[in-house]
Amino acid sequence: MSPAQPESERRTFAIISHPDAGKTTLTEKLLLYGGAIHLAGSIRARKASRHAVSDWMKMEQERGISVTSSVLQFNYMNRALNLLDTPGHADFSEDTYRTLAAVDSAVMLIDHTKGVESRTLKLFEVCRMRKLPVVTFMNKMDRMGRDPVELIDEVASTLNLGVCPMNWPVGMGRDFDGVVDLASRRVQLYADSDHGQNVAEVDTISMDEAPERFGQGRMDEVGEQLELLEGAGDPWDLDRFLKGELSPIFWGSAMTNFGVEPLLAFLAQNAAEPAPREARKPDDTVITIEPSAEKFSGFVFKIQANMNPRHRDRVAFVRVVSGRFRRGMDATIGRSGEKLKLSKPHTFMAQERSIVDEAWPGDIVGLYDPGKLRIGDTLAEADVLKFDGIPRFAPEHFARVLLKDPLKRKQLDTGLQQLSHEGVIQLFYRPELGLQDAWLGAVGLLQFEVLKERLKNEYRVSAELEVLPYGVARWIKGSDEALDWLKKRQSYRLVQDRNGNQVILAENQWAVEFALRNVDDLQFFEVEPL
Ligand code: G4P
Repeated sequence: MSPAQPESERRTFAIISHPDAGKTTLTEKLLLYGGAIHLAGSIRARKASRHAVSDWMKMEQERGISVTSSVLQFNYMNRALNLLDTPGHADFSEDTYRTLAAVDSAVMLIDHTKGVESRTLKLFEVCRMRKLPVVTFMNKMDRMGRDPVELIDEVASTLNLGVCPMNWPVGMGRDFDGVVDLASRRVQLYADSDHGQNVAEVDTISMDEAPERFGQGRMDEVGEQLELLEGAGDPWDLDRFLKGELSPIFWGSAMTNFGVEPLLAFLAQNAAEPAPREARKPDDTVITIEPSAEKFSGFVFKIQANMNPRHRDRVAFVRVVSGRFRRGMDATIGRSGEKLKLSKPHTFMAQERSIVDEAWPGDIVGLYDPGKLRIGDTLAEADVLKFDGIPRFAPEHFARVLLKDPLKRKQLDTGLQQLSHEGVIQLFYRPELGLQDAWLGAVGLLQFEVLKERLKNEYRVSAELEVLPYGVARWIKGSDEALDWLKKRQSYRLVQDRNGNQVILAENQWAVEFALRNVDDLQFFEVEPL
C-alpha cells in the first residue's frame, strides 16, 4: 500500500510515552482517522505490554520470538505518514531508542492525570540528542487530572523545552466540554459518542457563544488561563519546533477519539520532512546526503527475527534516506563493501506484510536478510557509504553465560555474535581474555530471556546466565592515570565493547559519580560515542 509520492510527501514519526499513557489507543486512533483501519479495537489485540512477563514470553515464542514493532503507513491530507511503532514493554527500550534514530519527529504522549513520567523523560532525552521536533499530546482529558497551566509548566521546566499550546481544554473529567482552537478561537465540542470506535464528527461554536453554553464562570476561568499563557508561554514558531526547541501542545482523549484530528492535521502539515544525513566515504570524508539525491541510500535500524513462525527468517528494517528504492535493485553494504540484491522488500501493517515495488525517503522497507546485515549498516546504490547511525545505549543488566555442554562453544559464539548484531544484547570483552568469553549487557532483563530462548531454538545451545553484580555501564575517555585509578579499584571493571571502545562497569550510579569527583581528566558517556 505504498502510495507513489515523492519524498517531500513523507512524514515519519514515532510516539514516545510512559506505559499506560495511551500509546496503543492513540496509535489505533491515528490509523482509524488515517483510514487505515475501519474499526478501532483491531490493534489492541497485539499489545504485548499489558501481559504478565511470562504470558508475554509465551506469546512471543508462539509467534517465533520477536519484539513487537512495526511500521504503519497511512495517508492524511495528501501526505503519507509513516508511524514507527515501538514495543510497549519497558525492557525493550533499546529497541525504541533505535527506532528514534529512524524518524524525523516524535509525538510525546502524556497522561494528564500523571504529568511527565520517568520513561517519557528518558525517551525525550533521546529525542533531544537527535534534535527531533516533538509534538505533545495531553491525553485522558475525559478524566480528572492536573491543572493545565501547572502541567505545561512542568513539561517546560522538567524537559527544559519551550511549549506552545495549540488548543486549550475547557474543563476536564465529567466536565470536559472540549478545546478552544487557539488559531481560530473556536471551541471544538467534546462528545463521547460510540466509545471511540468510529470517526466522530466534531461540532464547533465561537468563543462568543461559549459562555451561554458552558456558563460565564467557566469561560472566565479559561480566559484567565489563556491570559496567563500569553504572558508565560512561547509564541508559535515553526522554525524552533523543527529544531526541537519548541513543542506544540494538544489536549484530548484518545479513547473517545477527541483531539486526534487536530494532532494528525498538525503532523501532516508541520512534522519534519525527511532529513538529510551525514555519511562517511571510505576515505573518511564526510558528505551530506540530501533526500532529493538521485541514488538510493538507507540504513538498517532494526532487525527482527522470525516474524513468521512458518519460515525462520530475519527481516532488516531499512529507513530510506535518499533516492528511490526499487524492488530487486543492487546495493552495497557500507561496512563490508559487499553487494546485496534487495529482493522481496516489504511494508508492514500490523501483522500483515505486502510487497513494495518502490519506496521514497522517509519510508521504511523490510528486507529479507540472509544474515548479512547488522543494525546500523548503510545500504547505498552508488558509493560505499556509512551513515553515523544508531548509537548504543548503556546497559543496566549484566551477565555471563554458563554453557551446559562445553562442546557447543562454537555455536554459542556464533549465536552471541549474530544476536548482538541484531541488537538483542550487547557484548563486552575483558581485555586480558581477548574475544573469548564475552560478558552480556542488556538495557532490560527480558532481553536476556529472549537471548536464552533464541540460543536454544536457533543455535541449539542450552545456556544459563549468571547475573553479574554491576548496574551501570559508561563509555569512557580519560588519561592513562585516570584509567589506572579505575583499574586499581575493586568497584570498577574495565571492559571493551565490540569496537574496542573502553567501557567501565560499576555497581551503581554512586560509584560512577565518586570516580568523576575524584579523578581528573575522565569523561563518562551514557551513549556510545560515535
Ligand atoms: P499504553 O499503550 O501507553 O500502555 O496505553 P494503552 O493505550 O493501552 O492505554 C492504557 C489504559 O488507558 C487503557 O485502559 C486505555 O483504555 C486507557 N486510555 C487510553 N486513552 C485514554 C483516554 O483518552 N481516556 C481514558 N479515560 N482512558 C484512556 P485499561 O483499563 O488499562 O485497558 P482497557 O480495558 O481499556 O483496554
